[in-house]
Amino acid sequence: MTGAPSFGLSGAARLALVQRLARRREGQERQAAADPRGFGAIQNLKDWALVRDGVEALGIESPYFRPHEGRAGARSVIAGREVINFGSYDYLGLNGDPRIHAAAADAMARHGVSCSASRLVSGERPVHGALEARIAAHYGAEAALVLTSGHATNVTVIGHLVGPRDLVLHDAAIHNSCTEGARLSGARRLPFPHNDLAAAERELARARRAAQRALVVVEGHYSMDGDVPDLAGFVRLARKHDAWLMVDDAHGLGVVGATGKGVFEAAGVDPAEIDIWMGTLSKTLCSCGGYVAARAELVDWLRYTVPGFVYSVGLAPPLAAAATAAFDIMAAEPWRVAKLQANALLFRDLCRARGLDTGESAGLGIVPVVLGSSLRAVQVSAALLERGVNALPIVFPAVPEKTARLRFFFSAEHEEADLREAVAQLAAAVASVKA
Ligand SMILES: Cc1ncc(COP(=O)(O)O)c(C=O)c1O
Repeated sequence: MTGAPSFGLSGAARLALVQRLARRREGQERQAAADPRGFGAIQNLKDWALVRDGVEALGIESPYFRPHEGRAGARSVIAGREVINFGSYDYLGLNGDPRIHAAAADAMARHGVSCSASRLVSGERPVHGALEARIAAHYGAEAALVLTSGHATNVTVIGHLVGPRDLVLHDAAIHNSCTEGARLSGARRLPFPHNDLAAAERELARARRAAQRALVVVEGHYSMDGDVPDLAGFVRLARKHDAWLMVDDAHGLGVVGATGKGVFEAAGVDPAEIDIWMGTLSKTLCSCGGYVAARAELVDWLRYTVPGFVYSVGLAPPLAAAATAAFDIMAAEPWRVAKLQANALLFRDLCRARGLDTGESAGLGIVPVVLGSSLRAVQVSAALLERGVNALPIVFPAVPEKTARLRFFFSAEHEEADLREAVAQLAAAVASVKA
């Protein structure tokens, strides 16, 4: 077990747990060997089952897959009880907006729920082109393409754009979808320490020559930490080393910058300096899907060749129409962005005043509260829910074991009294669980 995470357990408790799990595992392995059609022999499945059994053996209720009974906004109903909710990406509070619902309903009445085919072959609807034009205009880009999932967008676009002779340099905290895309591509993958531009430069300078093409991938607003990159620095880096720069601004749109345009607005960078903009429809735009915005030559090629688009159904018409309506509301009602940012900043500063570790959070839309071990994060989350506040734990391996955390997502719908109440309850929940 040397070097393995302790998950917040004492030595004796860890030993007892390991012995219990070993006995259970022996039984499972006997069962797996006796069942030739089973899946129990897959190593990843075995590892996952071990964690599941460990959590169960410790008597901890899983915080995951808890049903929200209505719309999960700034408040939500879980198990029949209303709680203050920090678990949704509805940054601008638009998911319940009647104007968005009307746009979705209108598109559904016109085109049905599904477009029932890939857009290439009979799935194209006017709502797709309207949304893509809106996205392209937002980034000052020549064209944009929307796909049915944000995650799949990164996987398929990165997987298609680069290949085994290329290099993908990315922030170590980059979203899983980007690393999956890089893996699929077969390119050499080089992570650099989170937000460390100097380290990124060193890595790129060292590796660039051996690679045919290089792609640098950063997020505009990091989902685990709530901080932002030095965008101007990354533009300079990409130009100096003849690399493309791709920015995943999934959590930046509607959140970062004075009017929520995203990280380019906050950084004062011309968005045309970024070679590929990527984003999702599932957060600020309260829909579902992903997009890229770039030069027309790239987007046109993707439109005809990228597998996750060509061989996949078109974005559902109500989802496309909802996202376009959300874009319009975001532009027309900048108070939403201001309120979201004020909410996150107040929460972060109240946490800091109580000695809670909010890391490098910029206080824009995401605030992590770092607690230490995964076990502690899960226990604090459970204690907090008991106290009427929903915030999910982020545990190893999503973050290093010593930096397991609760993650708070904010909304323009949160009210100051709820934020103050949530921080008071959080401080009490943290104090109730031993470090
Ligand atoms: C940075 C980032 N990129 C991509 C995605 C995937 O987007 P979606 O959840 O819309 O599929 C996420 C999801 O949270 C994300 O945080």
